[in-house]
Amino acid sequence: MAKVKTRYVCQNCGYISPRMLGRCPNCGAWNQLVEELEPQKVIAPVTPNFAGETKQPVKLSEITFNEEKRVHTGLTELDRVLGGGVVPGSLVLIGGDPGIGKSTLLLQVSGQLEQTGGQVLYVTGEESASQIKLRANRLHVQGKELFIYPETDMNAVSQMVQQQKPDYLIIDSVQTMNIPDLSSAIGSVAQVRAVTSQLMTIAKQQGVTVFVVGHVTKGGAIAGPKILEHMVDTVLYFEGDLHHNYRILRSVKNRFGSTNEIGMFAMQDDGLKEVANPSEIFLEERLAHATGSAVVVSMEGTRPILVEIQSLITPTLYGMAKRTTTGLDHNRVAVIMAVLEKRANILLQNQDAYLKATGGVHLDEPAIDLAMAMAIVSSYRNLGLAADECFVGEIGLTGEIRRVNLIDQRIKEAAKLGFQRIYVPANNEVNRKNQHQIEIVGVRTINDAIKKVFKNQR
Ligand code: TYD
Ligand code: MG
Repeated sequence: MAKVKTRYVCQNCGYISPRMLGRCPNCGAWNQLVEELEPQKVIAPVTPNFAGETKQPVKLSEITFNEEKRVHTGLTELDRVLGGGVVPGSLVLIGGDPGIGKSTLLLQVSGQLEQTGGQVLYVTGEESASQIKLRANRLHVQGKELFIYPETDMNAVSQMVQQQKPDYLIIDSVQTMNIPDLSSAIGSVAQVRAVTSQLMTIAKQQGVTVFVVGHVTKGGAIAGPKILEHMVDTVLYFEGDLHHNYRILRSVKNRFGSTNEIGMFAMQDDGLKEVANPSEIFLEERLAHATGSAVVVSMEGTRPILVEIQSLITPTLYGMAKRTTTGLDHNRVAVIMAVLEKRANILLQNQDAYLKATGGVHLDEPAIDLAMAMAIVSSYRNLGLAADECFVGEIGLTGEIRRVNLIDQRIKEAAKLGFQRIYVPANNEVNRKNQHQIEIVGVRTINDAIKKVFKNQR
């Protein structure tokens, strides 16, 4: 018998070594190399696509372009994140912490897809069929064409797909599936990768639309969906914290649409409900005239949302001033504070600063600078801002307020939510037609902004 070859694979980054090593030379992680059987040589097959055509080089000028057909999933928020519906024959990975609601989301989607006339095969490796039934009752999902299949053997799943020919395949979760030919443990990098590539083959060859759940484990992140991102068509992350019932679905990779789209859901007793207007929720608990609170219109993908930025500036007790941020970039906050110090003569070096974007969102575009600065000044001077004004604008190092993109959409959204005044960069070309409901104030520098915003309060 031929000698069985083994190799050592880093469970953190997938690095392969012929010898056992304590520390991975690629990612530097300790004790992550695990012995695995050398897989048989798999040569990526030249496969016909699901229409039966093999690929040939084509002249660019001769390529005809067909708009992809998209299927609406029945959840508008999910459709938006996918770029207007799911593309048949694509593979969508939904990642997120355990318990965040991935299985709930996919069971609801299955129920909706089944209603539009598709057949759904829901493979579950985590729960029994009766557990799923219990959840389905809770979600009011019932289906004649929704098949629950408790199985973890990937070969069995492949066979079942061939036999049953479903339109949609749900895998919950990729970490529980295994290919028995591979000796490595279920959930290891090698297994998760091989399972995903087999699912990709099913999607592309048979035109089955596949949704895959992937758990992101805290800290360790063993075989998390990160290592699969390059293999699949679309990666969505389902986030939120377990203490609040709001969940954000975010697209981080999409071959068929733009990334950075978000969809919002609220987890309720009978499943996930779509939140059509996130701004209202983000602003819901805002105290009128509180100091240190400023509202920004931030773009999340194609959608403007209004978020409150809060700041608390208090004198430092022990020498070193502290800066703490939640949902905002730490370095950005430091830059804005330095600019305020140098250009607007606001002494902040002996002040602790706590900044927060409310509602559990993470804001990272430059257009939030002006709102951050105003929140800081408001708290520092103990002067409240008007409840019905909001801010957009990037701040440069010389204290200038720089142009931001998509200004008209932002103004429209602010006006829609009843804001009376919006401060924007003076250099931004604003389309003032049809915008009578809201006063638009252009500002050039940080000093100009402070003067205009706090003019009535000194
Ligand atoms: P689940 O979909 O099982 O999470 P995941 O698959 O991401 O691990 O969601 C589990 C949580 O959601 C659990 O804490 C209970 C809660 N939940 C509701 O609040 N309402 C519901 O209708 C359902 C089905 C679950
Ligand atoms: Mg689950």
